[in-house]
Amino acid sequence: MLKKVVITQPLPGERLQALAGQCEMDVLTGPRSLSAPDTRAQLADCHGLICLLTDAIDLPLLDAMPSLRFVSSVSVGVDHIDVEALTARGIPVGHTPGVLVDTTADAAFALLLAAARRVAEGDRYIRGGNWRPETRWSPDFFLGKDVSGATLGIVGLGAIGQAVARRAGGFDMKVIGWTPSGRAVPGVDNVSLEELLLRSDFVSVHLALTSETRNLLDAPMIATMKPGAVLVNTARGGIVDEAALAAALDSGHLYAAGLDVFEREPVALDNPLLQHPRVVVVPHIGSATTLTRAKMVDIAVRNASAVLLGQPMPHCVNPQVYLAEALR
Ligand code: GLV
Repeated sequence: MLKKVVITQPLPGERLQALAGQCEMDVLTGPRSLSAPDTRAQLADCHGLICLLTDAIDLPLLDAMPSLRFVSSVSVGVDHIDVEALTARGIPVGHTPGVLVDTTADAAFALLLAAARRVAEGDRYIRGGNWRPETRWSPDFFLGKDVSGATLGIVGLGAIGQAVARRAGGFDMKVIGWTPSGRAVPGVDNVSLEELLLRSDFVSVHLALTSETRNLLDAPMIATMKPGAVLVNTARGGIVDEAALAAALDSGHLYAAGLDVFEREPVALDNPLLQHPRVVVVPHIGSATTLTRAKMVDIAVRNASAVLLGQPMPHCVNPQVYLAEALR
């Protein structure tokens, strides 16, 4: 009998079909939460789970899935998954690194430029009927911040942070960086996080959300930022204290922010950050291009397929499960 693999939402691309002969696929549809009782019942005999970053894979869910043998997430970040609990059960967790690097770096740069040059604010200005003869072009009309020649501080120098550094080079920015591992990257001056925040005209965040990075940019850290700086976050909302960021914008300490991610998503309309005219927001679309999403599905399917064929996952966040298995 074929093993059951649950896919938590219909996925784009053809690759899912590659699993057709290897398992019985059960694709969940419609708005639902994995913790809803009827969904739990559907998951009870599930051998594998292909999930999204909006699916919380936590202990109560794992307890309800005694047959689970793998989780494959269509995301690079795995902060929605209790990886420690899965590792303790010897269950591999797959993710999709590499393929979304340039797409996400483009999104960070789009937000950086939009925040610096007030693109969303200008768009709202025109559509609101405010651009009239008496408010037409003048030397001090809609002034923004120069990107060329400015210092960009990259927080997190993994593949996406490095791709942002390459783009910054093309804009004649000076690039400094900080990463928890201290990794050296050509063309990027490594400095402490405090020095980065003090010196940077633009700060772009590219870290995974972990217990170490949660709330890393808290009120004291944000207070350290250079006056008039711009903060860009395409990583995870939980890394930045949103209330402290809103206060720093309201007081005029920071110039603007470009945000793709929020502590709670979808972001609430009464979130103070949405009230600030210089905050440019997009709805967690850093990797959202047709090609990149297809590549992410492709990798998630390859991760699942490997387990179904009795092989190690090619992109596994907890490969120690294989070592533990070999030692048994
Ligand atoms: C996107 O945020 C991802 O983790 O893939």
